[in-house]
Amino acid sequence: MRILGIETSCDETAAAVVDDGRLIRSNVVASQIPIHERFGGVVPEIASRQHILAIGQVVSDALKEGATLLAEVDAIAVTYGPGLSGPLLVGMNFAKGLALGLGIPLLTVNHLEAHMLSVWLVTGEDSAPEPALPMVSLIVSGGHTELVLVERPGRYRVLGRTLDDAAGEAFDKVGRLLGLEYPGGPSIERTAALVCPADATISLPRAWLRGTHDFSFSGLKTAVVREVRSAQVTSTVETISAERAQMLAWAFQDSVADVLSQKLSDAAKSEGSHSASLVGGVANNSTVRAACERRLMVPLYVPGPGLCTDNAGMVAGAAYWNPRKISYEQDIAPSLGLSA
Ligand code: KG4
Ligand code: ZN
Repeated sequence: MRILGIETSCDETAAAVVDDGRLIRSNVVASQIPIHERFGGVVPEIASRQHILAIGQVVSDALKEGATLLAEVDAIAVTYGPGLSGPLLVGMNFAKGLALGLGIPLLTVNHLEAHMLSVWLVTGEDSAPEPALPMVSLIVSGGHTELVLVERPGRYRVLGRTLDDAAGEAFDKVGRLLGLEYPGGPSIERTAALVCPADATISLPRAWLRGTHDFSFSGLKTAVVREVRSAQVTSTVETISAERAQMLAWAFQDSVADVLSQKLSDAAKSEGSHSASLVGGVANNSTVRAACERRLMVPLYVPGPGLCTDNAGMVAGAAYWNPRKISYEQDIAPSLGLSA
């Protein structure tokens, strides 16, 4: 089954062609990072308008790269949420029109489910076996930090989540505090890499929230604020020194990697899972990956290049494994905190 996936939940306009929930024929992403950079974060109104401008070309590029004619597409998959409402509406309506025009099914995908099932995707040369189930999946993105038991595609149990900031959000906010380039995640990783661990002079706190699978990153962020302020008071220059920023980036990343890897490994043990996965934008971080590899006693799956951050390959894949349509009762009402 060949599915054309569309993803517009935040600041990436993406389209992809995937066969049978696994084989990626194309995966095109038009990032808006340069547009939002000057505001230090995603501006929803601008993101929506940019999706309108980009979506037609991105879809036609995905079809072309995937050597696929519209007539060869069996279904359209699109992210319905969670995400920014304006951006989501652009993708939903484009997908709906396309499916109607072609007379093929429209499948609606939960963005977090798409991240979790992204470890099923492979490229042409790769014939890796399907991940072993049950799997404990740690979703670490800009908007979410959730630990979920995947019994099988479509059957999930949330074990824990962040009580405040998402891991990626903490990376982005701390990046801004340290005067680094947007988005903070990749900038912090690059900056921290300049520090030799043996020379690290700062250690930042960890919120363990023992006895639960939940997370908290706001205290860690406040600890960085305090360190930055104390450096500014004692320093003669207005901003902190590059060396101090590097040290804080290293200590922050070390703390996040420590907590994420320990909690993922604890959950894998307590649930008796056969594998674990690390998905979402923060899974790009090699320190976080290495810490998880080190602690886990079961195989760790991490999505391949370009599949951790938002993309439509994961949307087309998820629609194959759990094909569904959104409903008011199951999706809309609960997401608004209403009972159906
Ligand atoms: O999954 P994603 O593309 O979008 C959401 O669904 O939120 O994740 C984006 C997040 C951003 O917060 C970004 O800073 C973070 O992933 N990120 C990273 C790295 N690359 C992206 N965080 C840490 N290290 C990285 N290398
Ligand atoms: Zn995402």
